[in-house]
Amino acid sequence: NTGGFTFDPGFTSTCSCESAITFIDGEKGQLLYRGYRADELAQKSNYMEVCYLLLNGELPTQSEYEEFTDAIRMHTMLNESLKRFFTGFHYDAHPMAMLSSIVSGLSAFYHDTTNTADPEHRKIFARRMIAKIPTIAAAAYKYSIGQPMIYPKNELDYSSNFLRMMFAVPAEEYEVDPVAAEALDVLLILHADHEQNASTSTVRLAGSTGCNPYAAISSGIAALWGPAHGGANEAVLKQLSAIGDVSNVDKFIAKAKDKNDPFRLMGFGHRVYKNFDPRATVIREHCHKVLKAYGGDTDGMLELAMKLEEIALKDEYFVERKLYPNVDFYSGIIYKAIGIPTNMFTPMFAIGRTVGWVAHYLEMISDPGMRIGRPRQIYTGATERPYTDIAGR
Ligand code: SDX
Repeated sequence: NTGGFTFDPGFTSTCSCESAITFIDGEKGQLLYRGYRADELAQKSNYMEVCYLLLNGELPTQSEYEEFTDAIRMHTMLNESLKRFFTGFHYDAHPMAMLSSIVSGLSAFYHDTTNTADPEHRKIFARRMIAKIPTIAAAAYKYSIGQPMIYPKNELDYSSNFLRMMFAVPAEEYEVDPVAAEALDVLLILHADHEQNASTSTVRLAGSTGCNPYAAISSGIAALWGPAHGGANEAVLKQLSAIGDVSNVDKFIAKAKDKNDPFRLMGFGHRVYKNFDPRATVIREHCHKVLKAYGGDTDGMLELAMKLEEIALKDEYFVERKLYPNVDFYSGIIYKAIGIPTNMFTPMFAIGRTVGWVAHYLEMISDPGMRIGRPRQIYTGATERPYTDIAGR
């Protein structure tokens, strides 16, 4: 177990590790969190309960749930001096830049969680990280629109607290819309973990060096930002806006198939799922429920997305390559409907995925046999050769 990684030379682009947290069957389109179906948890559980499950391996009893949620509430605020970190950014900095920087900055604050050999340190780190990520994300958004940061209100549930920190202003009372809070909780559950995806593998590799745990999580945020990964949800909405109308769908599908064009249909395809991404199915159904509560598909984005899916899944290029909608294809439609701005879509993914990063980090760091991760390569460069003076070159 080298930081969770074993490298099999037969596979040039993947390395694998052992984990008991999440199981994916890509052919069947199955996703299990500690043995429970993620889509069933999305319908019957809540994000805090799923966080407990991912961290501890079992669903909590009532008293365990209350102790856990109380502990999370205790950690939702930021150290006041952390607020100065935001002012160093230009107002239009991308929230993901602020999120990764400020999470890394937590490593300069908390010395009571750096001894990861101590189970108590590990527990405080997990609860503090899960509690603070929404506060930091909402504060980044507020900074970008020139509004004051809103402090957490701990009588609210996790999702409602975040929405209030995002949209409340000091001058007025703010009532969280339960439809938005419920939709957000479902999305956080479905984004919570996903086996050895790029950002989780980044957290494990960084963490295997023994670096500060908050810095390891910050490396995962940086990896998630890319459009091939968590940045795809923001790219999907931009792409749907660019398509604009069903009459343009064929043109964009042709572009996606053109090997001379780097353009890809964002929100489609997956390294592991060669069947429907079960998360996309739940999110698509939830789109209907949320949009109905907000006056319907007024901008036509859902209708356009569903038409795009229908046409693509009949096209030989997509069928042959088993390219189905993934978790990012429909999530932005819900985020938009509940008022989340496009540049906050990937931070939303990061909020949900933080528990997965923390669970994998703790699983790895708690293993006494853990060693630093050290993937190898297939060398394709020059063979050994003698130095030549510049005059002779
Ligand atoms: C996430 O790993 C995870 O679990 C990630 C994630 C998680 O929860 O952590 O599920 C979250 O990152 C979802 C993916 C979000 N990204 C996108 O939606 C971006 C668009 N998708 C593609 O870039 C791509 O599908 C990936 C990155 C998701 C997967 O890349 P792969 O497995 O390396 O696929 P590939 O590049 O090898 O593609 C195989 C073929 C290629 O064509 P050929 O060379 O065989 O002719 O499929 C084509 C690709 O050109 N292809 C696409 C395509 N995705 C793959 N063609 C057009 N549009 C696409 N979206």
